[in-house]
Amino acid sequence: MKDVLERKFCVAPMMGYTTPYARNLYRIMSKKAFLFSEMIATKTLIHSKNTHSIIANDNQNPIAMQVGGSDYHDLKKCSNIAYELNYNEINLNVGCPSKAVQKGSFGACLMQDKNLVKNCLSAMHINKNIEVSIKCRIGIGRNFNYDYFEEFIDEILKSGIKIVYVHARNAILNGFSPKDNRNIPPLNYGFVSKIKQKYPDINFILNGGIDTIQKAIDLSKIYDGIMVGRLIQNNPFCLKNIDTLFFNGQSSYKVSEDTIIEYFNYIKPKIGTDSIYRLLSPLLNIFFGVANGKKFKIDIHTNMKSNNFAKLEEIFLSFVKEKSLLIN
Ligand SMILES: Cc1cc2nc3c(=O)[nH]c(=O)nc-3n(C[C@H](O)[C@H](O)[C@H](O)COP(=O)(O)O)c2cc1C
Repeated sequence: MKDVLERKFCVAPMMGYTTPYARNLYRIMSKKAFLFSEMIATKTLIHSKNTHSIIANDNQNPIAMQVGGSDYHDLKKCSNIAYELNYNEINLNVGCPSKAVQKGSFGACLMQDKNLVKNCLSAMHINKNIEVSIKCRIGIGRNFNYDYFEEFIDEILKSGIKIVYVHARNAILNGFSPKDNRNIPPLNYGFVSKIKQKYPDINFILNGGIDTIQKAIDLSKIYDGIMVGRLIQNNPFCLKNIDTLFFNGQSSYKVSEDTIIEYFNYIKPKIGTDSIYRLLSPLLNIFFGVANGKKFKIDIHTNMKSNNFAKLEEIFLSFVKEKSLLIN
């Protein structure tokens, strides 16, 4: 029951977006949304010295670290690292279709080897204080095949995992970019409904194409939880009502100049330790579709080139002040 409640509304892992900085912005608005790190390759996590700007967890719980890999020993080590960093969950990426990821033998191509995935997930169980989960697709290739999906789930659940995030589209591994793979293969939520009937005790979290908060509310009444990606990428301020709408919170958050001030206070000490783009990326889409937004956007990009943080903060503040009614 606890798991179901905590994962009612999840923000999908997104490389280049769900940075520790973005997660901090999300947490200003929602204390309850379940967050994810960007995917990190197991070898990078284990061997690189510069992973802090991907995996830092500044008390952003509840939160999962997502990893990509298929070597049992590495995955076990990654679970230990995630546990040490106080992550609630470690999630195996079995959904990314990119060429680079296929070359490294992880991501969506692993759906073709369910036994290997089961063993990976088993290896990731290190103790009862860190949950193990998977994020997968509903199949590989152009055709829907429910039996293939069901057989995959049958096998991987033998690892003992209780949480499965499903991007309810096939992955097409040849000739499609990751972006195509998020748009072109049709959605099929029916597979998730059907597998849930077979496994009522497993939490199946629905992902893919949930592009309004109203859709998220409606679907969350049917599924154990929902996961949204691009909706938050395009408009992080959507998170302001989540605690009220999904978790019986008391009152909604109001986006104001304080939101920007709080966010800039968080990133200021990090200036110089990461690119200006990563530090500001969670705010860069807020101008989209807002009247005169283009003018703000041009101003922001000009000042990013000159690294003028004081001016950048000023522009974001005036945007939020001027558009307060529109964004709330
Ligand atoms: C920019 C971007 C980066 C992504 N990176 C990841 C990733 O690191 N791991 C992953 O499992 N999915 C990744 N995804 C896929 C999302 O998690 C999600 O499954 C997909 O966008 C469908 O959900 P949506 O329709 O709500 O956006 C990414 C998506 C986007 C837009």
